[in-house]
Amino acid sequence: MPAFGSSVVNVSDLRERARRRLPRMVFDYLDGGAETERTLRENVRAYSDVLLRPRSAELVPSVDLGTTVLGHEIAVPFLFAPIGSSRMFWPRAEAEASSAAGKAGTVYILSTLSGTRLEEVKAATSGPCWFQLYLCGGRDVALGGIARAAAAGYSTLVVTIDTPVAGLRERDVRNGTRELLSGNPLKMLPHLPQILARPRWLYDFFADGGLMSFPNILLPDGPMQYADVGAALEAAAVSWADLSWIREAWSGPIVVKGIHTADDARRAVDEGAGAVIVSNHGGRQLDGVAPTLKILPEVVAAVGDRTEVLFDGGIRRGSDIVKALALGARATLLGRGYAYGLAAGGEAGATRAAEIFRADLIRTMKLLGCASVGELTSDYLSIPPG
Ligand SMILES: Cc1cc2nc3c(=O)[nH]c(=O)nc-3n(C[C@H](O)[C@H](O)[C@H](O)COP(=O)(O)O)c2cc1C
Repeated sequence: MPAFGSSVVNVSDLRERARRRLPRMVFDYLDGGAETERTLRENVRAYSDVLLRPRSAELVPSVDLGTTVLGHEIAVPFLFAPIGSSRMFWPRAEAEASSAAGKAGTVYILSTLSGTRLEEVKAATSGPCWFQLYLCGGRDVALGGIARAAAAGYSTLVVTIDTPVAGLRERDVRNGTRELLSGNPLKMLPHLPQILARPRWLYDFFADGGLMSFPNILLPDGPMQYADVGAALEAAAVSWADLSWIREAWSGPIVVKGIHTADDARRAVDEGAGAVIVSNHGGRQLDGVAPTLKILPEVVAAVGDRTEVLFDGGIRRGSDIVKALALGARATLLGRGYAYGLAAGGEAGATRAAEIFRADLIRTMKLLGCASVGELTSDYLSIPPG
């Protein structure tokens, strides 16, 4: 297990460790966004527009970071977001990440596009697991995944609605990601040098089974193969009408992920969502949409009294989480914030990421003079007009 000493102080340090360990095409898959990457950058930058307003000389000897999401008590106000193909970052990465989430006292959300069997991922954690659903392979295949997730003890289904097609991730196209994972030697050849430049990663990847398939998407002829992802997502677009059969198939709570507007949030709640996630998929889908922090207040105003509003996008520091909570989010999701750690060092790296966020949160709350995340309100913020 890699050691993470004082050279890893923040999430940027984990990102740099991940960059040095991964082949370019894997790092860019994790780090990159759609088209001009404007929304990816704005998600991160938006936090600097919102300033903190502390209450000085308020003594806060201890800080309560705990909250509840859909009835689960969690020790920290962040969950681990679904990250497809995590297995490219580290062997059995989804199970390593779920273990780290459990040790941090929080929820792990497993993507349908996981390289590790969902049963193994659930067994690896002491905490709750949610299953994020794509309809890859059609309704019957999805129903098979839903039934397996329920049998394995997943408590909540997360339906992602912002992926009617995969966004254009230009870095992936340039790096030949699809060709490299096609298994076709002729197509792979021109893109191989970036892989051969990372022999340690290559060894780990092959020791873990090599080329990716998706064991939780069982097509009639076996697990879906990696090269099919783009086409499979395009054929798997979720519409509001799908929510009714999904609701019938799943007896637990349903969370709708990918909310950009108050109208869609209301619609999701009307369709029976137990929570919504304000998310633009980390700037990987429609480039040019507003940063999520900017639309959070409108969604909270629209549905905050009827449902739990969760939030993700651009969170790289504990103070970012504080700002989202103060704007009304019930809890946040970390995407790249933990995945850089996972890619840098498997479970130890994801755990280091969670520790960094936890320590940031405690320090920021003490400096703010606020003793519990439940007490955060916009009074602790200075928000620019508009
Ligand atoms: C490499 C990568 C893969 C992702 N895969 C999925 C996925 O399979 N399903 C999903 O709903 N969201 C997926 N997301 C989006 C995340 O769940 C989350 O919304 C986003 O990463 C939050 O933004 P952040 O990375 O800036 O924190 C992915 C994000 C990344 C970075």
